[in-house]
Amino acid sequence: MAVSSLHRVFTFECRSDPDFASLPSTENLRSTPRHFPAAGLSAAFYGVSSPILRFPPNFQRQLSTKARRNCSNIGVAQIVAASWSNEGAGSPAAGANPVPAVASAVDAATAPLPVDLGADDESVVDAGKNGAVQTNRSSYSSFLKTDASKTIHAAERLGRAIVTDAITTPVVNTSAYFFKKTADLIDYKEKRLASYEYGRYGNPTSTVLEEKLSELEGAESTVLLASGMCASIVLLMALIPAGGHLVTTTDCYRKTRVFIETVLPKMGITASVIDPADVGALESALEQNKVSLFFTESPTNPFLRCVDIKLVSELCHKNGALLCIDGTFATPLNQKALALGADLVMHSCTKYIGGHHDVIGGCISGSDKLISEIRILHHILGGVLNPNAAYLFIRGLKTLHLRVQQQNSTGMGMAKFLEAHPKVKRVYYPGLPSHPEHELAMRQMTGFGGVVSFEIDGDLETTIKFVDSLKIPYIAPSFGGCESIVDQPAILSYWDLPASERAKWKIYDNLVRFSFGIEDFEDLKADIVQALEVI
Ligand SMILES: Cc1ncc(COP(=O)(O)O)c(C=O)c1O
Repeated sequence: MAVSSLHRVFTFECRSDPDFASLPSTENLRSTPRHFPAAGLSAAFYGVSSPILRFPPNFQRQLSTKARRNCSNIGVAQIVAASWSNEGAGSPAAGANPVPAVASAVDAATAPLPVDLGADDESVVDAGKNGAVQTNRSSYSSFLKTDASKTIHAAERLGRAIVTDAITTPVVNTSAYFFKKTADLIDYKEKRLASYEYGRYGNPTSTVLEEKLSELEGAESTVLLASGMCASIVLLMALIPAGGHLVTTTDCYRKTRVFIETVLPKMGITASVIDPADVGALESALEQNKVSLFFTESPTNPFLRCVDIKLVSELCHKNGALLCIDGTFATPLNQKALALGADLVMHSCTKYIGGHHDVIGGCISGSDKLISEIRILHHILGGVLNPNAAYLFIRGLKTLHLRVQQQNSTGMGMAKFLEAHPKVKRVYYPGLPSHPEHELAMRQMTGFGGVVSFEIDGDLETTIKFVDSLKIPYIAPSFGGCESIVDQPAILSYWDLPASERAKWKIYDNLVRFSFGIEDFEDLKADIVQALEVI
Protein backbone atom coordinates (compact mmCIF):
# COMPACT_ATOMS: atom_id res chain seq x y z
CA MET A 1 0.00 0.00 0.00
CA ALA A 2 2.71 2.43 1.00
CA VAL A 3 4.59 1.72 -2.23
CA SER A 4 1.60 2.46 -4.36
CA SER A 5 1.05 5.62 -2.36
CA LEU A 6 4.57 6.72 -3.19
CA HIS A 7 4.05 5.84 -6.81
CA ARG A 8 1.01 8.02 -6.82
CA VAL A 9 2.93 10.98 -5.39
CA PHE A 10 5.54 10.65 -8.14
CA THR A 11 3.24 10.25 -11.07
CA PHE A 12 0.28 12.42 -10.25
CA GLU A 13 0.10 14.82 -13.12
CA CYS A 14 -1.76 17.92 -13.86
CA ARG A 15 -2.89 17.19 -17.38
CA SER A 16 -3.29 20.09 -19.72
CA ASP A 17 -6.56 20.21 -21.53
CA PRO A 18 -6.06 22.67 -24.37
CA ASP A 19 -9.70 23.06 -25.33
CA PHE A 20 -10.57 24.13 -21.82
CA ALA A 21 -7.41 26.05 -21.05
CA SER A 22 -8.68 29.61 -21.33
CA LEU A 23 -9.76 30.19 -17.79
CA PRO A 24 -10.57 33.69 -16.70
CA SER A 25 -7.85 35.46 -14.80
CA THR A 26 -8.08 35.77 -11.06
CA GLU A 27 -8.91 39.42 -11.61
CA ASN A 28 -11.92 38.47 -13.74
CA LEU A 29 -13.01 35.96 -11.19
CA ARG A 30 -12.98 38.62 -8.56
CA SER A 31 -15.02 41.07 -10.54
CA THR A 32 -17.83 38.75 -11.58
CA PRO A 33 -20.31 38.34 -8.79
CA ARG A 34 -21.86 35.06 -8.01
CA HIS A 35 -23.56 34.60 -4.75
CA PHE A 36 -23.37 32.03 -2.12
CA PRO A 37 -26.71 32.82 -0.56
CA ALA A 38 -26.09 32.90 3.16
CA ALA A 39 -24.28 31.11 5.89
CA GLY A 40 -25.44 27.55 6.08
CA LEU A 41 -26.76 27.60 2.55
CA SER A 42 -25.11 25.80 -0.29
CA ALA A 43 -21.80 27.20 -1.37
CA ALA A 44 -20.66 28.33 -4.76
CA PHE A 45 -16.96 28.69 -5.17
CA TYR A 46 -14.56 31.04 -6.72
CA GLY A 47 -13.38 29.37 -9.90
CA VAL A 48 -14.14 26.04 -8.30
CA SER A 49 -17.72 25.29 -9.10
CA SER A 50 -17.98 22.20 -7.01
CA PRO A 51 -14.87 21.36 -5.08
CA ILE A 52 -14.75 18.29 -2.96
CA LEU A 53 -13.84 20.02 0.22
CA ARG A 54 -13.01 17.22 2.56
CA PHE A 55 -11.25 13.92 2.35
CA PRO A 56 -11.37 10.86 4.53
CA PRO A 57 -8.90 11.26 7.38
CA ASN A 58 -6.59 8.60 5.99
CA PHE A 59 -6.00 10.56 2.82
CA GLN A 60 -2.67 12.25 2.70
CA ARG A 61 -2.98 15.47 0.83
CA GLN A 62 0.02 17.08 -0.67
CA LEU A 63 0.31 20.20 -2.67
CA SER A 64 3.24 20.59 -4.98
CA THR A 65 3.91 24.27 -5.40
CA LYS A 66 6.00 23.46 -8.46
CA ALA A 67 3.17 21.56 -10.05
CA ARG A 68 0.88 24.31 -8.96
CA ARG A 69 2.90 26.78 -11.05
CA ASN A 70 2.69 24.48 -14.07
CA CYS A 71 -1.00 23.88 -13.85
CA SER A 72 -2.72 27.20 -14.09
CA ASN A 73 -4.90 25.75 -16.82
CA ILE A 74 -6.99 23.81 -14.38
CA GLY A 75 -8.16 26.89 -12.65
CA VAL A 76 -7.37 25.93 -9.15
CA ALA A 77 -3.71 25.25 -9.70
CA GLN A 78 -3.46 22.36 -7.42
CA ILE A 79 -2.22 18.90 -7.00
CA VAL A 80 -3.94 16.68 -4.56
CA ALA A 81 -1.93 13.57 -4.12
CA ALA A 82 -3.95 11.04 -2.26
CA SER A 83 -2.59 8.23 -0.26
CA TRP A 84 -4.86 5.52 1.03
CA SER A 85 -2.58 5.03 3.95
CA ASN A 86 -1.87 6.92 7.10
CA GLU A 87 1.74 6.05 6.49
CA GLY A 88 3.51 9.10 5.14
CA ALA A 89 5.94 9.06 2.26
CA GLY A 90 8.86 9.28 4.66
CA SER A 91 7.61 6.61 6.99
CA PRO A 92 9.52 3.38 7.35
CA ALA A 93 6.84 1.51 5.49
CA ALA A 94 7.32 3.80 2.58
CA GLY A 95 10.97 3.00 2.26
CA ALA A 96 13.91 4.24 4.27
CA ASN A 97 15.54 6.25 1.50
CA PRO A 98 12.97 7.95 -0.58
CA VAL A 99 14.37 9.24 -3.87
CA PRO A 100 14.76 13.05 -4.12
CA ALA A 101 11.55 13.54 -6.07
CA VAL A 102 9.67 12.04 -3.17
CA ALA A 103 11.42 14.36 -0.77
CA SER A 104 10.44 17.41 -2.77
CA ALA A 105 6.87 16.26 -2.98
CA VAL A 106 6.87 15.70 0.76
CA ASP A 107 8.31 19.18 1.32
CA ALA A 108 5.60 20.62 -0.79
CA ALA A 109 3.05 18.93 1.37
CA THR A 110 3.51 21.63 3.97
CA ALA A 111 1.73 24.09 1.68
CA PRO A 112 -1.85 24.92 2.65
CA LEU A 113 -4.46 22.75 1.07
CA PRO A 114 -6.24 24.47 -1.79
CA VAL A 115 -9.29 22.35 -1.13
CA ASP A 116 -9.75 24.16 2.15
CA LEU A 117 -10.09 27.42 0.24
CA GLY A 118 -8.48 29.14 3.19
CA ALA A 119 -7.82 32.82 3.36
CA ASP A 120 -4.21 32.28 2.35
CA ASP A 121 -5.18 30.75 -0.96
CA GLU A 122 -5.94 33.88 -2.89
CA SER A 123 -5.92 32.20 -6.25
CA VAL A 124 -9.15 30.40 -5.62
CA VAL A 125 -11.23 32.28 -3.16
CA ASP A 126 -12.28 35.75 -2.28
CA ALA A 127 -15.01 37.23 -0.20
CA GLY A 128 -17.32 39.41 -2.20
CA LYS A 129 -19.94 41.82 -1.01
CA ASN A 130 -21.42 40.71 2.29
CA GLY A 131 -18.69 38.13 2.46
CA ALA A 132 -20.33 36.11 -0.31
CA VAL A 133 -17.97 33.77 -2.08
CA GLN A 134 -18.12 34.37 -5.77
CA THR A 135 -17.35 32.49 -8.90
CA ASN A 136 -17.57 33.04 -12.61
CA ARG A 137 -19.63 31.05 -15.03
CA SER A 138 -19.70 33.41 -17.98
CA SER A 139 -16.41 31.94 -19.14
CA TYR A 140 -18.28 28.83 -20.23
CA SER A 141 -20.16 30.61 -22.93
CA SER A 142 -17.24 30.98 -25.33
CA PHE A 143 -16.91 27.27 -25.90
CA LEU A 144 -20.06 25.66 -24.49
CA LYS A 145 -22.45 27.23 -26.95
CA THR A 146 -24.96 24.47 -27.35
CA ASP A 147 -27.09 22.41 -25.05
CA ALA A 148 -25.42 19.33 -26.49
CA SER A 149 -22.11 20.51 -25.02
CA LYS A 150 -23.58 21.96 -21.86
CA THR A 151 -25.34 18.76 -20.85
CA ILE A 152 -21.99 17.01 -20.94
CA HIS A 153 -19.49 19.57 -19.69
CA ALA A 154 -21.17 22.40 -17.80
CA ALA A 155 -20.15 22.68 -14.16
CA GLU A 156 -17.66 19.85 -14.47
CA ARG A 157 -14.88 20.59 -16.97
CA LEU A 158 -14.06 24.06 -15.71
CA GLY A 159 -13.00 24.65 -12.20
CA ARG A 160 -14.09 21.39 -10.61
CA ALA A 161 -11.43 20.52 -8.12
CA ILE A 162 -9.36 17.52 -9.08
CA VAL A 163 -9.76 15.00 -6.36
CA THR A 164 -9.15 11.75 -8.13
CA ASP A 165 -8.42 10.76 -11.69
CA ALA A 166 -12.08 9.93 -12.17
CA ILE A 167 -13.80 11.18 -15.32
CA THR A 168 -17.08 11.16 -13.47
CA THR A 169 -18.22 13.37 -10.62
CA PRO A 170 -17.67 11.67 -7.27
CA VAL A 171 -20.73 10.88 -5.18
CA VAL A 172 -20.07 12.45 -1.81
CA ASN A 173 -22.13 10.41 0.58
CA THR A 174 -21.98 12.43 3.72
CA SER A 175 -24.59 13.93 5.96
CA ALA A 176 -22.23 16.51 7.46
CA TYR A 177 -18.85 18.14 6.85
CA PHE A 178 -16.18 18.60 9.46
CA PHE A 179 -14.14 21.63 10.38
CA LYS A 180 -10.56 21.04 11.43
CA LYS A 181 -10.76 23.60 14.18
CA THR A 182 -13.27 25.99 15.66
CA ALA A 183 -11.49 28.95 14.09
CA ASP A 184 -12.31 27.43 10.69
CA LEU A 185 -15.94 27.07 11.68
CA ILE A 186 -16.03 30.71 12.75
CA ASP A 187 -14.36 31.71 9.47
CA TYR A 188 -17.03 29.73 7.65
CA LYS A 189 -19.83 31.36 9.64
CA GLU A 190 -18.36 34.76 8.87
CA LYS A 191 -18.00 33.80 5.19
CA ARG A 192 -14.23 34.00 5.08
CA LEU A 193 -14.04 30.28 4.42
CA ALA A 194 -16.14 28.49 1.83
CA SER A 195 -17.30 25.09 2.94
CA TYR A 196 -20.26 22.84 3.22
CA GLU A 197 -21.73 22.37 6.66
CA TYR A 198 -24.62 19.91 6.73
CA GLY A 199 -26.04 17.60 4.10
CA ARG A 200 -29.44 19.22 4.14
CA TYR A 201 -27.86 22.54 3.12
CA GLY A 202 -25.68 21.32 0.31
CA ASN A 203 -23.53 18.60 -1.17
CA PRO A 204 -20.69 18.76 -3.72
CA THR A 205 -22.29 16.16 -6.02
CA SER A 206 -25.58 18.04 -5.91
CA THR A 207 -23.79 21.34 -6.58
CA VAL A 208 -22.50 19.92 -9.88
CA LEU A 209 -26.06 19.01 -10.87
CA GLU A 210 -27.40 22.40 -9.80
CA GLU A 211 -24.81 24.20 -11.89
CA LYS A 212 -25.37 21.94 -14.90
CA LEU A 213 -29.11 22.69 -14.75
CA SER A 214 -28.45 26.42 -14.30
CA GLU A 215 -26.34 26.36 -17.45
CA LEU A 216 -29.09 24.63 -19.40
CA GLU A 217 -31.81 26.95 -18.16
CA GLY A 218 -29.71 30.12 -18.36
CA ALA A 219 -30.36 30.64 -14.65
CA GLU A 220 -28.28 32.27 -11.94
CA SER A 221 -29.12 29.49 -9.54
CA THR A 222 -30.86 26.14 -9.20
CA VAL A 223 -32.10 24.30 -6.14
CA LEU A 224 -32.67 20.55 -6.09
CA LEU A 225 -35.40 18.85 -4.14
CA ALA A 226 -36.43 15.30 -3.40
CA SER A 227 -39.19 15.20 -6.05
CA GLY A 228 -41.03 17.36 -8.53
CA MET A 229 -43.93 17.63 -6.08
CA CYS A 230 -41.54 18.72 -3.37
CA ALA A 231 -40.25 21.42 -5.73
CA SER A 232 -43.76 22.76 -6.49
CA ILE A 233 -44.81 22.71 -2.86
CA VAL A 234 -41.72 24.45 -1.47
CA LEU A 235 -41.87 27.03 -4.26
CA LEU A 236 -45.54 27.80 -3.65
CA MET A 237 -45.10 28.00 0.10
CA ALA A 238 -41.99 30.14 -0.15
CA LEU A 239 -43.35 32.70 -2.58
CA ILE A 240 -47.01 33.13 -1.67
CA PRO A 241 -47.72 34.80 1.66
CA ALA A 242 -50.40 33.51 4.01
CA GLY A 243 -53.71 34.85 2.74
CA GLY A 244 -52.23 35.41 -0.72
CA HIS A 245 -53.54 34.48 -4.15
CA LEU A 246 -52.15 32.53 -7.10
CA VAL A 247 -53.28 31.79 -10.62
CA THR A 248 -53.03 28.31 -12.07
CA THR A 249 -54.45 26.39 -15.00
CA THR A 250 -57.24 23.86 -15.47
CA ASP A 251 -54.97 21.24 -17.03
CA CYS A 252 -52.09 20.20 -14.80
CA TYR A 253 -50.56 17.31 -12.89
CA ARG A 254 -53.34 16.19 -10.60
CA LYS A 255 -51.37 16.20 -7.35
CA THR A 256 -50.32 19.81 -7.93
CA ARG A 257 -53.98 20.74 -8.25
CA VAL A 258 -54.83 18.74 -5.13
CA PHE A 259 -52.15 20.61 -3.16
CA ILE A 260 -53.43 23.99 -4.41
CA GLU A 261 -57.06 23.10 -3.72
CA THR A 262 -56.73 21.33 -0.39
CA VAL A 263 -53.54 22.36 1.41
CA LEU A 264 -52.91 25.98 0.44
CA PRO A 265 -56.36 27.08 1.69
CA LYS A 266 -55.22 26.04 5.18
CA MET A 267 -52.83 29.00 4.93
CA GLY A 268 -55.58 31.22 3.61
CA ILE A 269 -54.13 31.03 0.08
CA THR A 270 -56.70 31.07 -2.70
CA ALA A 271 -56.39 30.37 -6.42
CA SER A 272 -57.89 31.46 -9.73
CA VAL A 273 -57.94 28.52 -12.13
CA ILE A 274 -57.90 29.53 -15.80
CA ASP A 275 -57.70 27.84 -19.19
CA PRO A 276 -54.00 27.83 -20.24
CA ALA A 277 -54.68 30.00 -23.28
CA ASP A 278 -57.22 32.34 -21.71
CA VAL A 279 -55.22 35.55 -21.46
CA GLY A 280 -58.38 37.53 -20.65
CA ALA A 281 -59.00 35.32 -17.61
CA LEU A 282 -55.44 35.92 -16.47
CA GLU A 283 -55.86 39.68 -16.85
CA SER A 284 -59.03 39.73 -14.78
CA ALA A 285 -57.50 37.47 -12.12
CA LEU A 286 -54.56 39.87 -11.90
CA GLU A 287 -56.87 42.89 -11.70
CA GLN A 288 -59.23 41.44 -9.11
CA ASN A 289 -56.68 39.90 -6.75
CA LYS A 290 -53.31 40.66 -5.32
CA VAL A 291 -51.66 37.81 -7.22
CA SER A 292 -48.22 36.72 -6.02
CA LEU A 293 -47.63 34.05 -8.63
CA PHE A 294 -48.91 32.52 -11.85
CA PHE A 295 -47.91 28.88 -11.59
CA THR A 296 -48.48 26.80 -14.70
CA GLU A 297 -47.17 23.91 -16.67
CA SER A 298 -46.31 24.45 -20.31
CA PRO A 299 -46.96 22.10 -21.99
CA THR A 300 -49.54 20.83 -19.54
CA ASN A 301 -50.23 17.32 -18.31
CA PRO A 302 -51.93 15.44 -19.97
CA PHE A 303 -53.28 17.63 -22.83
CA LEU A 304 -50.02 19.38 -23.72
CA ARG A 305 -51.64 22.81 -23.73
CA CYS A 306 -49.18 25.71 -24.05
CA VAL A 307 -49.03 29.04 -22.27
CA ASP A 308 -47.66 32.09 -24.09
CA ILE A 309 -44.75 32.57 -21.70
CA LYS A 310 -43.58 35.90 -23.12
CA LEU A 311 -47.05 37.43 -23.08
CA VAL A 312 -48.11 36.19 -19.65
CA SER A 313 -44.78 37.12 -18.09
CA GLU A 314 -45.32 40.72 -19.25
CA LEU A 315 -48.84 40.75 -17.83
CA CYS A 316 -47.69 39.24 -14.53
CA HIS A 317 -44.80 41.65 -14.16
CA LYS A 318 -47.02 44.65 -14.89
CA ASN A 319 -49.18 43.53 -12.00
CA GLY A 320 -46.37 42.71 -9.58
CA ALA A 321 -46.79 38.95 -9.92
CA LEU A 322 -44.15 36.32 -10.60
CA LEU A 323 -44.38 33.65 -13.30
CA CYS A 324 -43.25 30.08 -12.70
CA ILE A 325 -43.34 27.55 -15.52
CA ASP A 326 -43.36 23.85 -14.75
CA GLY A 327 -41.36 22.83 -17.82
CA THR A 328 -41.32 19.09 -17.13
CA PHE A 329 -42.99 18.23 -20.45
CA ALA A 330 -40.80 20.68 -22.36
CA THR A 331 -37.43 19.61 -20.93
CA PRO A 332 -34.72 22.24 -20.45
CA LEU A 333 -33.81 21.72 -24.12
CA ASN A 334 -37.08 22.19 -26.00
CA GLN A 335 -38.08 25.37 -24.18
CA LYS A 336 -36.12 28.11 -22.42
CA ALA A 337 -38.76 29.47 -20.06
CA LEU A 338 -36.47 31.99 -18.36
CA ALA A 339 -35.30 33.47 -21.64
CA LEU A 340 -38.97 33.81 -22.64
CA GLY A 341 -39.65 35.88 -19.52
CA ALA A 342 -40.53 33.47 -16.71
CA ASP A 343 -39.07 34.22 -13.29
CA LEU A 344 -38.72 30.59 -12.37
CA VAL A 345 -38.73 27.27 -14.16
CA MET A 346 -39.17 23.97 -12.40
CA HIS A 347 -38.97 20.35 -13.49
CA SER A 348 -39.87 16.97 -12.21
CA CYS A 349 -36.33 15.67 -12.90
CA THR A 350 -37.87 12.23 -12.52
CA LYS A 351 -38.96 12.45 -16.15
CA TYR A 352 -36.73 13.50 -19.07
CA ILE A 353 -33.82 14.83 -17.00
CA GLY A 354 -33.22 11.51 -15.25
CA GLY A 355 -34.48 9.73 -18.34
CA HIS A 356 -34.08 6.16 -17.11
CA HIS A 357 -37.07 5.60 -14.80
CA ASP A 358 -34.70 4.95 -11.93
CA VAL A 359 -34.64 8.09 -9.79
CA ILE A 360 -36.99 10.75 -8.39
CA GLY A 361 -36.14 14.43 -7.97
CA GLY A 362 -37.11 17.99 -8.70
CA CYS A 363 -35.41 21.28 -9.45
CA ILE A 364 -36.20 24.99 -9.57
CA SER A 365 -34.07 27.50 -11.48
CA GLY A 366 -34.15 31.28 -11.48
CA SER A 367 -32.46 34.35 -10.08
CA ASP A 368 -30.15 34.12 -7.07
CA LYS A 369 -32.65 36.20 -5.13
CA LEU A 370 -35.71 34.01 -5.71
CA ILE A 371 -33.83 30.74 -5.42
CA SER A 372 -32.32 31.92 -2.12
CA GLU A 373 -35.82 32.58 -0.79
CA ILE A 374 -36.92 29.10 -1.82
CA ARG A 375 -33.73 27.53 -0.48
CA ILE A 376 -34.33 29.01 2.98
CA LEU A 377 -37.67 27.21 3.30
CA HIS A 378 -36.29 24.09 1.61
CA HIS A 379 -33.54 23.86 4.21
CA ILE A 380 -36.19 23.96 6.93
CA LEU A 381 -38.64 21.54 5.32
CA GLY A 382 -35.79 19.21 4.45
CA GLY A 383 -36.92 17.52 1.24
CA VAL A 384 -33.33 17.12 0.17
CA LEU A 385 -32.12 15.22 -2.89
CA ASN A 386 -29.81 12.36 -2.04
CA PRO A 387 -26.31 12.70 -3.59
CA ASN A 388 -26.68 9.27 -5.21
CA ALA A 389 -29.80 10.56 -6.92
CA ALA A 390 -27.88 13.69 -7.94
CA TYR A 391 -25.25 11.44 -9.54
CA LEU A 392 -27.91 9.57 -11.53
CA PHE A 393 -29.31 12.88 -12.78
CA ILE A 394 -25.83 14.07 -13.80
CA ARG A 395 -25.41 10.85 -15.72
CA GLY A 396 -28.87 11.09 -17.23
CA LEU A 397 -28.28 14.66 -18.37
CA LYS A 398 -25.28 13.63 -20.44
CA THR A 399 -27.60 11.92 -22.92
CA LEU A 400 -30.55 14.30 -22.59
CA HIS A 401 -29.98 15.96 -25.95
CA LEU A 402 -29.74 12.60 -27.74
CA ARG A 403 -32.77 11.14 -26.00
CA VAL A 404 -34.90 14.25 -26.48
CA GLN A 405 -33.90 14.49 -30.14
CA GLN A 406 -35.13 10.93 -30.62
CA GLN A 407 -38.26 11.50 -28.54
CA ASN A 408 -39.11 14.72 -30.40
CA SER A 409 -38.83 12.86 -33.66
CA THR A 410 -40.78 9.80 -32.54
CA GLY A 411 -43.43 11.97 -30.83
CA MET A 412 -43.98 14.03 -33.97
CA GLY A 413 -44.05 10.97 -36.26
CA MET A 414 -46.48 9.09 -34.00
CA ALA A 415 -48.75 12.11 -33.52
CA LYS A 416 -49.13 12.42 -37.30
CA PHE A 417 -49.64 8.69 -37.74
CA LEU A 418 -52.22 8.48 -34.96
CA GLU A 419 -54.12 11.54 -36.17
CA ALA A 420 -54.54 9.89 -39.57
CA HIS A 421 -55.72 6.57 -38.09
CA PRO A 422 -59.47 5.89 -38.31
CA LYS A 423 -59.61 4.27 -34.86
CA VAL A 424 -58.14 7.37 -33.19
CA LYS A 425 -60.64 10.13 -32.46
CA ARG A 426 -58.33 12.97 -31.43
CA VAL A 427 -54.63 13.59 -30.87
CA TYR A 428 -53.13 16.16 -28.47
CA TYR A 429 -49.62 17.15 -29.50
CA PRO A 430 -48.30 20.73 -29.86
CA GLY A 431 -46.41 19.82 -33.03
CA LEU A 432 -49.68 19.14 -34.88
CA PRO A 433 -51.40 22.01 -36.71
CA SER A 434 -54.65 20.80 -35.10
CA HIS A 435 -53.34 21.63 -31.61
CA PRO A 436 -55.00 24.81 -30.23
CA GLU A 437 -51.62 26.43 -29.44
CA HIS A 438 -49.65 25.01 -32.36
CA GLU A 439 -48.41 28.37 -33.64
CA LEU A 440 -47.40 29.48 -30.17
CA ALA A 441 -45.62 26.16 -29.58
CA MET A 442 -43.74 26.61 -32.86
CA ARG A 443 -42.60 30.04 -31.63
CA GLN A 444 -41.53 29.15 -28.12
CA MET A 445 -40.39 25.54 -28.40
CA THR A 446 -37.77 23.82 -30.50
CA GLY A 447 -39.29 20.35 -30.18
CA PHE A 448 -42.43 18.91 -28.62
CA GLY A 449 -41.20 15.88 -26.72
CA GLY A 450 -42.10 12.24 -26.56
CA VAL A 451 -45.52 12.38 -24.91
CA VAL A 452 -48.55 12.12 -27.17
CA SER A 453 -52.06 12.02 -25.70
CA PHE A 454 -54.93 10.73 -27.82
CA GLU A 455 -58.47 9.43 -27.64
CA ILE A 456 -59.35 6.04 -28.99
CA ASP A 457 -62.59 5.81 -30.94
CA GLY A 458 -64.26 3.66 -28.30
CA ASP A 459 -65.24 3.32 -24.65
CA LEU A 460 -63.35 2.40 -21.49
CA GLU A 461 -63.26 -1.32 -22.38
CA THR A 462 -62.09 -0.77 -25.95
CA THR A 463 -59.34 1.50 -24.71
CA ILE A 464 -58.28 -1.06 -22.10
CA LYS A 465 -58.13 -3.64 -24.88
CA PHE A 466 -55.91 -1.37 -26.96
CA VAL A 467 -53.56 -0.66 -24.04
CA ASP A 468 -53.37 -4.32 -23.03
CA SER A 469 -52.60 -5.35 -26.61
CA LEU A 470 -49.46 -3.21 -26.77
CA LYS A 471 -46.28 -5.25 -26.42
CA ILE A 472 -43.51 -2.65 -26.06
CA PRO A 473 -44.62 0.03 -23.60
CA TYR A 474 -45.03 -0.61 -19.91
CA ILE A 475 -48.40 0.21 -18.38
CA ALA A 476 -47.14 2.60 -15.74
CA PRO A 477 -47.14 6.18 -14.49
CA SER A 478 -44.38 8.64 -15.37
CA PHE A 479 -42.91 9.61 -18.75
CA GLY A 480 -39.79 10.91 -20.42
CA GLY A 481 -37.56 7.87 -19.95
CA CYS A 482 -35.82 5.49 -22.32
CA GLU A 483 -38.60 2.91 -22.06
CA SER A 484 -41.96 3.69 -23.62
CA ILE A 485 -44.82 3.95 -21.14
CA VAL A 486 -48.55 3.97 -21.74
CA ASP A 487 -51.38 4.82 -19.41
CA GLN A 488 -55.08 5.46 -19.44
CA PRO A 489 -55.39 8.55 -17.19
CA ALA A 490 -59.02 7.71 -16.29
CA ILE A 491 -57.69 4.59 -14.59
CA LEU A 492 -54.14 5.39 -13.56
CA SER A 493 -54.57 8.91 -12.16
CA TYR A 494 -58.33 9.47 -11.77
CA TRP A 495 -59.85 6.06 -10.92
CA ASP A 496 -60.95 7.30 -7.49
CA LEU A 497 -63.31 9.82 -9.12
CA PRO A 498 -66.62 8.91 -10.80
CA ALA A 499 -66.69 9.35 -14.60
CA SER A 500 -68.78 12.52 -14.22
CA GLU A 501 -66.08 14.11 -12.02
CA ARG A 502 -63.34 12.96 -14.38
CA ALA A 503 -65.21 14.59 -17.24
CA LYS A 504 -64.87 17.94 -15.46
CA TRP A 505 -61.17 17.74 -16.32
CA LYS A 506 -61.85 16.17 -19.76
CA ILE A 507 -60.30 12.95 -18.54
CA TYR A 508 -62.53 10.70 -20.64
CA ASP A 509 -62.44 6.92 -20.53
CA ASN A 510 -60.89 6.68 -23.99
CA LEU A 511 -57.93 8.98 -23.25
CA VAL A 512 -54.46 7.43 -23.62
CA ARG A 513 -51.18 9.09 -22.65
CA PHE A 514 -48.28 7.53 -24.50
CA SER A 515 -44.72 8.43 -23.51
CA PHE A 516 -42.47 7.35 -26.33
CA GLY A 517 -39.06 6.20 -25.22
CA ILE A 518 -36.01 5.86 -27.38
CA GLU A 519 -36.85 2.50 -28.95
CA ASP A 520 -36.85 2.22 -32.73
CA PHE A 521 -39.67 4.23 -34.32
CA GLU A 522 -40.76 1.47 -36.70
CA ASP A 523 -40.95 -1.11 -33.89
CA LEU A 524 -43.12 1.23 -31.83
CA LYS A 525 -45.34 2.03 -34.80
CA ALA A 526 -45.79 -1.64 -35.70
CA ASP A 527 -46.78 -2.30 -32.09
CA ILE A 528 -49.42 0.44 -32.16
CA VAL A 529 -50.70 -0.75 -35.54
CA GLN A 530 -51.21 -4.30 -34.25
CA ALA A 531 -52.87 -3.05 -31.02
CA LEU A 532 -55.27 -0.87 -33.02
CA GLU A 533 -56.10 -3.86 -35.21
CA VAL A 534 -57.21 -5.78 -32.12
CA ILE A 535 -59.95 -3.26 -31.25
C1 LIG B 1 -45.84 18.27 -14.99
C2 LIG B 1 -45.46 17.61 -13.70
N1 LIG B 1 -44.98 18.34 -12.69
C3 LIG B 1 -44.64 17.79 -11.52
C4 LIG B 1 -44.78 16.44 -11.30
C5 LIG B 1 -44.39 15.84 -9.99
O1 LIG B 1 -43.11 15.29 -10.09
P1 LIG B 1 -42.58 14.07 -9.19
O2 LIG B 1 -43.32 12.86 -9.64
O3 LIG B 1 -41.12 14.03 -9.50
O4 LIG B 1 -42.88 14.43 -7.78
C6 LIG B 1 -45.26 15.63 -12.32
C7 LIG B 1 -45.41 14.18 -12.13
O5 LIG B 1 -45.80 13.46 -13.00
C8 LIG B 1 -45.63 16.23 -13.56
O6 LIG B 1 -46.12 15.52 -14.57
